[in-house]
Amino acid sequence: MAYIFNLHFLSLFLSFTFAIASFSTRDAAVLLRVKNTQLADPDGLLNDWADSLTPCNWTAITCDNRTLDIVSIDFTDFGSLAGPFPADFCRIQTLRYLSIANNYFNGSIPLTSFSLCSHVTFLNISSNVFVGKLPEFQPRFVNLTVLDVSYNNFTGEIPTSIGESLLLEVMDFSANYFSGALPESLTNLTELRTFLGPENPSLSGPLPENIGRLKKLETFRISATNLSGGIPDSIGDLSSIKSIDLSTNSLTGGIPDSIGRLKSLEHLWFYDNNLSGELPDVFSNLTSLLQFDASLNNFTGKLPTSLAGLHLQSLAVNDNQLEGEIPTVLSSNPKLTELKLFNNKFSGPLPKDLGENSDLEDFDVSGNQLQGPLPPNLCYKKKLQKFLCFNNKLSGDIPMSYGDCKSIYSVRTFNNELSGEIPSGFLSSSALQFIDISNNRFQGTIPASISHSTNIEALVISGNGFSGDLPAGICSLHEIVEMDLSNNQFSGALPTCLTNLKKLGKLNLQLNQFTGEIPNGVNSWARLSSLNISNNKLSGEIPNQIGHLPSLNYFDLAGNSFSGKIPDSLTNLKLNILNLSNNNLEGEIPTGLESKVFASSLIGNPKLCSQDLKPFHRCKKSKSISYVLVAILSSLAFFLIVSLVWILIKAKLFNRNKGLWKITSFQRVGFKEQEVLTSLMESNIIGMGGSGKVYRVTLKTGQTVAVKKLYGVHRSPETESEFQAEMETLGQIRHKNIVKLLFGSVGDDFRALVYEYMENGSLGDMLHVDPKGGYLLDWSKRFEIALGAAQGLAYLHHDCVPSIVHRDVKSNNILLDEELRPRVADFGLAKMLQLEAKESDGAMSRVAGSYGYIAPEYAYTMKVTEKSDVYSFGVVLMELVTGKRPSDTSFDENKDIVKWVTEAALSGEGGWRDLCQLIDPKMNCSSCDYEEIEKVLNVALQCTSAFPINRPSMRKVVELLKDHSTTPTK
Ligand SMILES: *[C@@H]1O[C@H](CO)[C@@H](O)[C@H](O)[C@H]1NC(C)=O
Ligand SMILES: *[C@@H]1O[C@H](CO)[C@@H](O)[C@H](O)[C@H]1NC(C)=O
Ligand SMILES: *[C@@H]1O[C@H](CO)[C@@H](O)[C@H](O)[C@H]1NC(C)=O
Repeated sequence: MAYIFNLHFLSLFLSFTFAIASFSTRDAAVLLRVKNTQLADPDGLLNDWADSLTPCNWTAITCDNRTLDIVSIDFTDFGSLAGPFPADFCRIQTLRYLSIANNYFNGSIPLTSFSLCSHVTFLNISSNVFVGKLPEFQPRFVNLTVLDVSYNNFTGEIPTSIGESLLLEVMDFSANYFSGALPESLTNLTELRTFLGPENPSLSGPLPENIGRLKKLETFRISATNLSGGIPDSIGDLSSIKSIDLSTNSLTGGIPDSIGRLKSLEHLWFYDNNLSGELPDVFSNLTSLLQFDASLNNFTGKLPTSLAGLHLQSLAVNDNQLEGEIPTVLSSNPKLTELKLFNNKFSGPLPKDLGENSDLEDFDVSGNQLQGPLPPNLCYKKKLQKFLCFNNKLSGDIPMSYGDCKSIYSVRTFNNELSGEIPSGFLSSSALQFIDISNNRFQGTIPASISHSTNIEALVISGNGFSGDLPAGICSLHEIVEMDLSNNQFSGALPTCLTNLKKLGKLNLQLNQFTGEIPNGVNSWARLSSLNISNNKLSGEIPNQIGHLPSLNYFDLAGNSFSGKIPDSLTNLKLNILNLSNNNLEGEIPTGLESKVFASSLIGNPKLCSQDLKPFHRCKKSKSISYVLVAILSSLAFFLIVSLVWILIKAKLFNRNKGLWKITSFQRVGFKEQEVLTSLMESNIIGMGGSGKVYRVTLKTGQTVAVKKLYGVHRSPETESEFQAEMETLGQIRHKNIVKLLFGSVGDDFRALVYEYMENGSLGDMLHVDPKGGYLLDWSKRFEIALGAAQGLAYLHHDCVPSIVHRDVKSNNILLDEELRPRVADFGLAKMLQLEAKESDGAMSRVAGSYGYIAPEYAYTMKVTEKSDVYSFGVVLMELVTGKRPSDTSFDENKDIVKWVTEAALSGEGGWRDLCQLIDPKMNCSSCDYEEIEKVLNVALQCTSAFPINRPSMRKVVELLKDHSTTPTK
């Protein structure tokens, strides 16, 4: 009996193990076959997939721990796997979870293979490069609960049959090119909790009428698409909804009253649509609401009290046509941090208690018809960062309490009727970066304590009644770019230390009572582009150095008492405006200015003479020669003194460098990092840019590295840790088309980044400076450079987390190694230097990017996005083909390379009629692939589209370029 039992048991046991073995053997074979025939695995991430082990132990595979069936394949973030959609994995009948997110799987997905996966419950194919239509979900994907196809290049309509996957809880279609309308069948998905579809620019049509059937929906985001029509009433039936984002669409009509039923709503965003009518006064039950943004629409009427009375963190209704008074109940909100009411027609006073009950950070009521005083305690909680109320009729003093507000970095109160003195303390805060209080009725002097505002970049106080001397403390504003003190009653001499302000770009002092001379040492104003000191009582000679300022293009000193000769050097300047009229200048007008164009700029100087320019009298020859001699001798002497001072300053600076260094290494290097830092000498400098100096250092080992030493930046514990974090992000990046950051170093008074050295310099120098460069680069090399650089940028945009926007793509930032292979350099640097100020609303933030490469939308959005890089890259493509600089002197006025190439494209009736005239003559093009050149130009045109939305992503650019390299030439 026992024997029989045992036998029975044994056979049971055997058949059981046999079953396991045979199942997993068959499934293992499926895995291996797919891996070996369909997957590209360049980094060998799946090398442990081999016959010897059971698949349950293989990378990315999970088995049911009881049955040992394969249940999950997870390639998420492997980053380098490629191939077609691996549908054959779904032949494993026990597979429930399949994720290939964030790899390079590509091509279109045929319905026949997609159907194999109808039994999975979890399918994530996001962040790959799939194209074409997303297939129908046939046979029904009955068990699917999570579907993520975001961040691919799918086109065509969203398949209707998805509405039959009734168990779906999460659906993500974000960032593709889906078109057509949202299928009404989506409203069958009553288990749906999350529905994401933003950034599909062609998705159009109305919202489904019965959207309210989705009773479990918590998150609904479909922004930056092209939806039209109204918001359906049934939206009020979304009883679980927490977050609605319908921003940046073309929705019309009003907000339905039913919205007042959404008690669990936390975020409601309607901004940037064509919505109109009054905001309904139905918000009182929305007690969970934290953020409301209906800005950039056409709403009229009043701001509803029920909305103003909620405990919102953020209320934004800017850029509408709202009117009436701002409800006072707003000021009792204990949570309000962000209030954006600008560009409406609000009138009456500001609520008196604003700021007293909440941590207000961002306050912007500009562009309304507000009257009366400023709230006395707006910064009561000491958190206020932006204080913006320009273009209103506000009056009275700036309340005393604002003087203790050390958190503000942006103040813009221009064009009001404010008066009195500025509270002491208000102008002496190290947080302050932008201040524009022009065109009010302020009085009093600039306090010496302004020297504490060391981070001010713009100080604009023109058109007030300020008076007194300029304190020397103003020379401590080392970050200042724009200083406008014009149209006040300032007097006394200009502080000589004014020339210490080396970042100054615009200096306006006109219409004051300043006396004395232009300070010495103006040659340190290397970035000054506009200097207006007209209509003061200044005297003395015009310093010769002014003619050597490299950026100056606006120079006005009319209506003063300047004397002596006009320095010849002024003719060096590329001036848009020159005005020397109404002074006491004398002697011969320099030849370069003897033109009718300048006559009106010179009149009112009775002692000026000219050989033939009317109305000036003729010169006596001999005298003018002696003037020239004197001028030459005195400028020589001056030059000597300046150089001596320069040398002394340099020597001092150099000694100060012996501080302590903190070094962060990212790569194994075969030398001591310190050796690099002690080798930074003037003689090693190979370049200077907006952000710093570049040195080439050859080490004892014979190795060569490039060192970027950054100019001074704001230093504080926060910016320091931000810099460190940013540097570490950049240090992690590994890509064959990106320059390697070897290590970074932060010292007491400097920051340096050490990169591998690139033998062949930059593409820009190769194309435009090196006389032989253009010839070395034949078309096939240029094409390889285009493709490589595109891959590098695509990597930064799409494969780095968080993604990195380069911000300064240009031919000078594409370096070439010894085999002329491209590597993108200097990415993220602009961010590290905080070049783009945190200001998002003003024209004062510094331009990010380089002239000729900056996307047009930057002028009004002040934002830099991936699409700005795409624009700049398009310019680089044009440079590669044409060999011209982005703003080459051969173009007509107001024309740049983009306009030039675009016109050539338009003039060619569907083709490029004059392709030969566009191509760089240095490329010996007898054997060029014209079809390829034409396609690169077409990609360049797409990249430089005026509208960011029409530009392809960098990933798409790579694809377009590659696609083209495989096209057979005719
Ligand atoms: C998986 O590998 C571990 C050791 O790495 C081993 O102990 C285990 O038995 C293996 N499991 C299977 C099912 O082969
Ligand atoms: C088996 O898997 C379940 C979840 O799938 C887990 O909770 C459990 O701990 C696992 N058991 C073993 C022995 O690993
Ligand atoms: C769906 O899941 C159920 C329960 O797990 C299962 O019985 C059924 O076979 C699955 N359907 C498909 C098509 O895989």
